[in-house]
Amino acid sequence: TQRIDDASPVVLVGLMGAGKSCVGRRLAAVLEWPFVDADDEIVKAAGLSIADIFELYGEAAFRDCERKVMARLLEGPPCVLAAGGGAFMDPGTRALIREHAVSVWLRADLEILVSRTVGRPHRPLLNTGDPRAILKKLMDERYPIYAEADVTVQTGAESADHTVRRVLDALT
Ligand code: S3P
Repeated sequence: TQRIDDASPVVLVGLMGAGKSCVGRRLAAVLEWPFVDADDEIVKAAGLSIADIFELYGEAAFRDCERKVMARLLEGPPCVLAAGGGAFMDPGTRALIREHAVSVWLRADLEILVSRTVGRPHRPLLNTGDPRAILKKLMDERYPIYAEADVTVQTGAESADHTVRRVLDALT
């Protein structure tokens, strides 16, 4: 198994609704490391909401911004970093994560993702059609790539603390 060390950030990857921020925050508390949410850092750096970046500049510009922010965060002191759902799909960002961090894919099934993302307007990718159909398509496209993460933890209806345990078991 992949092991945590004192120098490498732990990056959580996976689809919107997989629990990256929620599990990440609790994992960081257990490790006594800072928790960083990449989306929040992008919003701070750009001075715009994620939805506005997508609307005004498009997804490609968002990915460029995300890559730069991730590069900066991955070079900082070790932290638990919740990546945006698409970060690991960008070849440049994925290479950075693989080089500098231990990556953990929080894998969730469609029903869980749907139940956790309905009515969340800040996710522009889910606003362009039926969220269930979009999530299904994203699962098909992304799961083979997320599977390249160092560790995979299947999550379901159990508590976030339970998932944190499973992540720690996989990493220590
Ligand atoms: C995205 C996921 C979002 C955010 C953006 C794009 C994606 O992050 O980065 O809306 O491509 O899956 P979360 O997974 O934290 O919601």
